[in-house]
Amino acid sequence: MPITGIYGPDDFADRPQGQTPASHRAAPARPGAALPMPSLEWTPEVERATAPLYERVKHVIPSIEWPLLAPTIKAINELKQARGAVILAHNYQAPEIFHCVADIGGDSLQLAVEATKVKANIIVQCGVHFMAETSKLLNPDKTVLIPDSRAGCSLAASITGADVRLLREKFPGVPVVAYVNTSAEVKAEVDICCTSSNAVQVVESLNAPTVIFLPDRYLATYVASKTDVKIIAWKGACEVHERFKGEELRAFREADPTVQIIAHPECPPDVLAEADFTGSTAHMINWVREKRPRRLVMITECSMADNVRAELPDVEMLRPCNLCPHMKRITLANILESLLTLGEEVTIDPALAERARRSVERMINLKN
Ligand code: 13P
Ligand code: SF4
Repeated sequence: MPITGIYGPDDFADRPQGQTPASHRAAPARPGAALPMPSLEWTPEVERATAPLYERVKHVIPSIEWPLLAPTIKAINELKQARGAVILAHNYQAPEIFHCVADIGGDSLQLAVEATKVKANIIVQCGVHFMAETSKLLNPDKTVLIPDSRAGCSLAASITGADVRLLREKFPGVPVVAYVNTSAEVKAEVDICCTSSNAVQVVESLNAPTVIFLPDRYLATYVASKTDVKIIAWKGACEVHERFKGEELRAFREADPTVQIIAHPECPPDVLAEADFTGSTAHMINWVREKRPRRLVMITECSMADNVRAELPDVEMLRPCNLCPHMKRITLANILESLLTLGEEVTIDPALAERARRSVERMINLKN
């Protein structure tokens, strides 16, 4: 069914003006922690040591570019060992990060779950700030680093903890589900979190006739189409996925009626209506691994198409390319810097973290 109502900042006359979400909190590098910069020269030894890594990305990184990347990749992998660190990378990270320096890659649910199993004392989060915050919530005793704390998200920036309190006043007793693409401050105000992998399951787990689902209006619309639970949504959107258009997809299909189209549920409904499959980034990747389509259009952030093509070069990708500017703030250079200086460290007020953690753990503990 269609969503029951949709609200945003303009719908609350008493909302404090000029309010912005809690700023991204990251502490500068600790004094005395820095290690010296290693050599970043392209040498025969670097070429030999990184040859197996180049094999993984040779279909998506031209050989002429490898000498520019390989010395930093080698330095990161050595420093990771020296620091006892683990690198988590979201599926939207560039191939040289995702395939060459990450220990664990995945969608936001996988990264949240893997974060709880990590033995290393230092986690370097290659993704956006809410992902690093989620890792910190689940690993409060570990040092969580983000190579650039300005890596935000238009969804996380669309809503504050105060907005959730206003929604609760307007709809007393209605449970609130927050997409993980929110700040810790918002997670602290809600009943449970979800990701795009488990959103319908989480909404139905509450056994309520109506649920407030925030902040993504399009994911809310998708969830509403899959359940009988009434959904009240928030007016947030992903600045990357909302740019896709149904007509673009129809043009791909007209050019080749055999093409397969898969899309992320953050896309608008006219886009999802044209897709052969809709799912989270991990569900999309699994779909490609299983179906092995000859020609594929992947409607999501375009580094993910590169990462899939590196693994499955026989699948021809047609790529309407929308990059996430926030994900792209993470680079090999700032990952190296982060390991050298142990900056920028993600910190969350312990009392707020305690409440936010409950919402994330409640999601993780849901039975499959
Ligand atoms: P996934 O949970 O599917 O990885 O999505 C996260 C995200 O930010 C998509 O834009
Ligand atoms: Fe946020 Fe969209 Fe970027 Fe994902 S792709 S991090 S939802 S802005």
